[in-house]
Amino acid sequence: MANASGLVAPTLPSFRRRFSPSLGVYRSGFWFCHGVSRRTVCSSAAQRAEKLSPAESKARRLVSKGCKLVGCGSALPSIQISNDNLSEIVDTNDEWISVRTGIRNRRILSRKESLTAMATEAAQKALQMAKVEPNDVDLVLLCTSTPEDLFGSAPQIQKALGCSHNPLAYDITAACSGFLLGLVSAACYIRGGGFNNVLVIGADALSRYVDWTDRGSCILFGDAAGAVLLQVITPFHIFLIEEDGLFAFDMHSDGEGQRHLKAGMKENNTDQELATNGSLLGLLPKGSSSYSCIEMNGKEVFRFAVRVVPHSIELALEKAGLGVSSIDWLILHQANQRIIDAVATRLEVPQERVISNLANYGNTSAASIPLALDEAVRSGKVQAGDTIATAGFGAGLTWGSAIVRWG
Ligand code: ACO
Repeated sequence: MANASGLVAPTLPSFRRRFSPSLGVYRSGFWFCHGVSRRTVCSSAAQRAEKLSPAESKARRLVSKGCKLVGCGSALPSIQISNDNLSEIVDTNDEWISVRTGIRNRRILSRKESLTAMATEAAQKALQMAKVEPNDVDLVLLCTSTPEDLFGSAPQIQKALGCSHNPLAYDITAACSGFLLGLVSAACYIRGGGFNNVLVIGADALSRYVDWTDRGSCILFGDAAGAVLLQVITPFHIFLIEEDGLFAFDMHSDGEGQRHLKAGMKENNTDQELATNGSLLGLLPKGSSSYSCIEMNGKEVFRFAVRVVPHSIELALEKAGLGVSSIDWLILHQANQRIIDAVATRLEVPQERVISNLANYGNTSAASIPLALDEAVRSGKVQAGDTIATAGFGAGLTWGSAIVRWG
């Protein structure tokens, strides 16, 4: 069974039966020893290390690595579009947009700019902060719903970064929850997969899929990229695993809700053009080669977010064995200030501990959380050792949360 830490582990009672009665479990589901100080446990465990049975060794391998978030970066397109600019395109105004969403500006990729270049820039900054060379990166996860290649853009970023020994790079598609899924995936790769430095990039250019005649949705979105480097912690032994930077997570999806937020394939009905042989007509696929613009029922998405996000954070906190008072910072997907405020109120997180930058950038989909984190870290708000509750939600529908420590 996968536990809250994403690891496959025996159930607690069966593990206790099989191993030492002095073993207990940390808030994240990791094992520790009772009744002795951590330092004492360290040395006695180290002395016992050579005598572990194969089963104990396996269990130890499963939990003997953790991860920490050591670098972040972000990048933005050059074109800025204000609410007033938008009011020249659709029937809206600055007051309506600011009051209903909190958004005042957004950035949009120009035709000369690319998502891949923007994501690469964010990743380079994360590597610089982490003091990690591109050749030491062993996995690149690009969280995006707007790749520049149907087959994924992550390998192009790997190439642009100059990771010359061909580390795995691939895309994760989960709209505005994408970064959160990438973060948890990275932690699992590190904990169980032998990876040391994993780049998680959230980058999206939803402006390319916005219906610029739909005032109900075009006011919301902007383009951006953000990145975080997760690095392995190889503690001397398993009992230092409490240093792990991902305390717990909670993730879900609901395909039923897809009708409220989607950008489906366009059905071009070009069967006849494709079928030169009439007998094949029924067999050939429809000639769909592009996606439609974003279709959204804003009210339903709003209700969904306000309902699921606080619950998800509560579940993750519970798995982590933490209370709301342990949260130094709440960094939610930046979709709407009213959603952020409603979630913070429901969780009773004071405003001064809530990070928000959507006034400047709008909803940047998978980029919004790492972009907000990067700004908060670089401005000195978020400091090493701070506990962050973060949550993503969006199309799919998908949603989830994670409790992490920065640095
Ligand atoms: N300017 C002026 N008037 C507007 C605008 C606009 N831009 N948009 C809508 N209106 C009008 C409507 O036509 C309506 O007029 P009516 O009463 O005469 O019919 C009125 O304002 C109210 O419209 P609502 O849609 O009810 O407005 P609401 O308060 O729900 O706000 C909004 C709309 C901002 C879209 C809100 O519902 C929202 O933010 N929802 C969440 C959307 C979201 O976060 N989506 C992204 C998820 S992340 C991802 O995965 C992509």
